[in-house]
Amino acid sequence: MQHREPEQTDVKAAAEMIGDKLAILGVSPHTAVILGSGLGAAGRMAIEQGGVAIDYADIPNMPQPAVAGHAGRLIIGAGDLAGVLFLQGRVHYYEGHSLERMTFATRLMSVLGVRHLIVSNAAGGITSGYKPGDVMLISGHWTLLSIQEPSAQNGRTLPPSKLWSPRLRQLGRAVATTLSVHEGTYAMMSGPNYETPAEVLMLRTFHVDAVGMSTVPEACAAARRGIEVLGVSCITNVASGLSDQPLDHAEVSETAASVESEFTSWLFEVLKSVQPTSRYR
Ligand code: HPA
Repeated sequence: MQHREPEQTDVKAAAEMIGDKLAILGVSPHTAVILGSGLGAAGRMAIEQGGVAIDYADIPNMPQPAVAGHAGRLIIGAGDLAGVLFLQGRVHYYEGHSLERMTFATRLMSVLGVRHLIVSNAAGGITSGYKPGDVMLISGHWTLLSIQEPSAQNGRTLPPSKLWSPRLRQLGRAVATTLSVHEGTYAMMSGPNYETPAEVLMLRTFHVDAVGMSTVPEACAAARRGIEVLGVSCITNVASGLSDQPLDHAEVSETAASVESEFTSWLFEVLKSVQPTSRYR
């Protein structure tokens, strides 16, 4: 692993900087959206609609994404998107990041007052009938990685039944018109390699519907802070071994790019119906 500077995990300085910008703009954020691999179009459209972009590099201690397809920008939405913060890009476990670094942006959102988190990813479809371009709303998850925050912290454990908001899933289905929207279980694998066909068969046996390499750390960190979470997998490929197509990051990014405008329209409809509410629990 490459040499790293000592990790900075405290979000205070970042929260002060972004908080000042929000105050100048007169914005109180209620919803954040983490845009996964190749799904950055929503961020670009938010900028076209008058949103203000801040490079992660300019935010104190903010972890920098190194993977292609992850721009590394925070966008403060304006107009119809006022109150929405877009995180264009994330850092992954397979880049060598700790739990604290993977959840930095989510913890920052919590300190800024965000109450709803839409966390998206590109994923391989396992369940037959899931096609590239479909969306799966996450209703449960599975991972072998120890990526939850220590349960002893604050004496609280994560209530799994509350993690993936049924209300937001219902809302996500209600606004779908052209997009095929499923609900299912997401498995987070460590990466960076895609799964072997044998691993995919194992996941299928475990009733996993889609597989990826992210999302669970952010969702857990958000839920334990009382943030309502909608997990969204954009199916970019059929999982390894389930089709003759070779699987690589370029193909995943290409598929994500080809569906991102439809995905973004759907996402903006979801955002229109997510109203700022008080903390939901
Ligand atoms: N596996 C893991 N992560 C992914 C995949 C996949 O098939 N597609 C997009 N991200």
